[in-house]
Amino acid sequence: MQKITIAIDGFSSTGKSTVAKQLAKHLEYIYVDSGAMYRAVTYYAMKYGFIDATQFDVVGLVSKLHDIVVYFELNEKTGSADVYLNGENIEIPIRTLEVSNYVSQVAAIPEVRYQLVKQQHKMGSEKGVVMDGRDIGTVVFPDAELKLFMTASAETRATRRYDELTLKGDIVTYNDVLHNIEERDYMDSNREDSPLRKADDAIEIDNSNLSLDEQFQKILKLAEAAIQKNN
Ligand code: CDP
Ligand code: CDP
Repeated sequence: MQKITIAIDGFSSTGKSTVAKQLAKHLEYIYVDSGAMYRAVTYYAMKYGFIDATQFDVVGLVSKLHDIVVYFELNEKTGSADVYLNGENIEIPIRTLEVSNYVSQVAAIPEVRYQLVKQQHKMGSEKGVVMDGRDIGTVVFPDAELKLFMTASAETRATRRYDELTLKGDIVTYNDVLHNIEERDYMDSNREDSPLRKADDAIEIDNSNLSLDEQFQKILKLAEAAIQKNN
């Protein structure tokens, strides 16, 4: 069976990474969380003082891009890949609301996108990859054999993300989470370079009323059909 490329894009907290991981495991494909790469650069920018509540030194950050090495390594305990930045496992700190509050500004910088997209091309060069993000079906892999575009109402997504963060012990309010989601949706959809939009040939899935399993079964059928068509 020839392997295909599966691109999953959509708004924040629509279940993209959950279903991408499930699919990759089931199909024995590689999973790439492209959002984690943008989060990693944001974490670096925060750690080294390029971005905070009062300033954003874009020129300084861009000048350091060659020093930022982002990669994934399997975590034996969880069975999924953790993201690393220059040797440091940053899987946990990149998921905080603080990083979420800055990531869309960092992701709007063309030089950052250029660097990360180059790496994403390499990661998916042999096919057999499920990659999720905002521009995978439009920019990174415009020839992907299966493209999905995930949506759900902002309130549903905020509830899901709020539950996830509080379960991990993060102290956040529902309103802060909702505000972050709406702001990122807006910034990601309206930036000049590679804005979030549905590719013309992507299949839209609104999962507001789908459980994780229902969503997986529906998408697995689409993936199996796309693989069949390609063979
Ligand atoms: O998990 P969630 O959907 O909240 O976000 P994510 O996938 O971790 O992505 C974090 C941020 O990275 C997004 O809000 C975008 O600003 C940026 N991103 C992007 O610009 N392009 C991608 N391919 C993936 C993420
Ligand atoms: O990757 P993305 O930000 O699109 O979303 P995710 O991290 O996969 O999912 C966000 C949260 O929503 C997770 O806690 C999922 O378990 C939950 N979710 C859900 O409860 N039902 C769905 N149909 C999809 C996601």
